[in-house]
Amino acid sequence: MQHDLFAAPASGPERLPLADGAVVLPAYACGVADQLLAAIDSVVAQAPLRRMVTPGGQTMSAQMSNCGALGWVTDRAGYRYQATDPVSGRPWPAMPVAIARLATQAAALAGFADFFPDACLINRYQPGARMGLHQDRDEQDLSQPIVSVSLGLPMVFQFGGLKRSERPRRVPLNHGDVVVWGGPSRLRYHGVLTLKPGTHPATGDCRYNLTLRRAGR
Ligand code: SIN
Ligand code: FE2
Repeated sequence: MQHDLFAAPASGPERLPLADGAVVLPAYACGVADQLLAAIDSVVAQAPLRRMVTPGGQTMSAQMSNCGALGWVTDRAGYRYQATDPVSGRPWPAMPVAIARLATQAAALAGFADFFPDACLINRYQPGARMGLHQDRDEQDLSQPIVSVSLGLPMVFQFGGLKRSERPRRVPLNHGDVVVWGGPSRLRYHGVLTLKPGTHPATGDCRYNLTLRRAGR
């Protein structure tokens, strides 16, 4: 029997549908996880992780930084994107190619061609940190999807409906898992439950999440 080494695999990367326009790509980023973590290190060396304050005055439990042309920030004045890091006044570090490429490829697999993110929010969770249910809606073009990459310790993702009152599904996310949501799911409520203590070979005692978005036009 003759095998064609260059034939496309019958199935390709695994895709688990979550909802219309939303999919989990299990372990999709595992092959580039070390590159992504090195990229995170270089970004946070220039724009250190920090705990931001919500407009209501609560200090967020996740530490955050950004790379790309625009960065998501919150303070007493509100949630917004801006081109400069409020801590340093300098532009956010450029988005490392490894991060941008992974996002474009994951979005395409999920059915969103030509996704070119201009904003990458880096969330670092340590045990006890969480992110309450919220919508991502500070972006200008809601036809563009969200790509979310998990690295390190496992965490339970909550994926809800278009109304906060709709009970969210619980989706365990592991190192290398990528979630993409857009189209009819773009404004679904989502969040993560409290991180449990643990140790991961790639990240030690924490989980990183990269959220990639097209924030401007
Ligand atoms: C977020 O929605 O901002 C983060 C979600 C996650 O950490 O997986
Ligand atoms: Fe979000």
